[in-house]
Amino acid sequence: MQNKVIIGNQKMNVTAGQTRKFLNVFVPAVEHINYQIGICVPYTSLAVCKRALKDTNVIFGAQNVSEFERGAYTGEVSSEMLADIGCKMTLVGHSERRKYFSEQNSQINNKIKQNLRYNIVSVLCIGESKRERTAGQTQNILCKQLDECLSGLYENELDNIIIAYEPIWAIGTGQTATAKQIEEAVDYIRKEISRLYNDKASKNIIVLYGGSVKPDNVKSFMGIKNLNGFLVGGVSLDAKAFSELIQVYAGKSNKK
Ligand code: PGA
Repeated sequence: MQNKVIIGNQKMNVTAGQTRKFLNVFVPAVEHINYQIGICVPYTSLAVCKRALKDTNVIFGAQNVSEFERGAYTGEVSSEMLADIGCKMTLVGHSERRKYFSEQNSQINNKIKQNLRYNIVSVLCIGESKRERTAGQTQNILCKQLDECLSGLYENELDNIIIAYEPIWAIGTGQTATAKQIEEAVDYIRKEISRLYNDKASKNIIVLYGGSVKPDNVKSFMGIKNLNGFLVGGVSLDAKAFSELIQVYAGKSNKK
């Protein structure tokens, strides 16, 4: 994975037909971009991505994966199945999965381990709620999530992990974290990786920010030290707006 990255998360918002239409507009608009672009789609859109993104600079992934290898787990989709269809990455531990499906750090840890067996990059989402931030708990929450989700992983396996810092209160709310808040969180995440592993691992790991990132505000985050890019929800549903955001980040747009 390159060290400048933008990943879209379309959540449960698109049919396979809508994904095809989206990619018809999106792929030509970003074909000149020379950093890593990815899109995480519903399972039912993966086959469309496999066809449409062949020989392009856009990689695709799922939004979740089973913590189990295979067997009697009705409704689950395994890392092996995702690798087989060409998935290069999956989100794991998105706050919506933690909130609505009670996903625990130990399960997220198992998902990461399954992905590692099939060479799939895990985009590990972590972040605090508003209440936790107000109570001064942000660092404790990030620490616990990192420690438990990365438990038992070796340093070389971090090459297949991306950390997405997504404060829950900024997701889909239009209320972004400030550049200072993001920088503090990213610094803390790197400090924690250094404590768990070492300085080299801390320097090398890719850290993204997610939470109401838009073409209009992405410039204000571009100066953040040690941040490698963004995880984008709502805007990634609109091919024009998402490619505009990607171009602004590449420094190729006049947008102020
Ligand atoms: P948002 O979502 O950009 O709509 O805030 C981000 C995310 O959930 O990953």
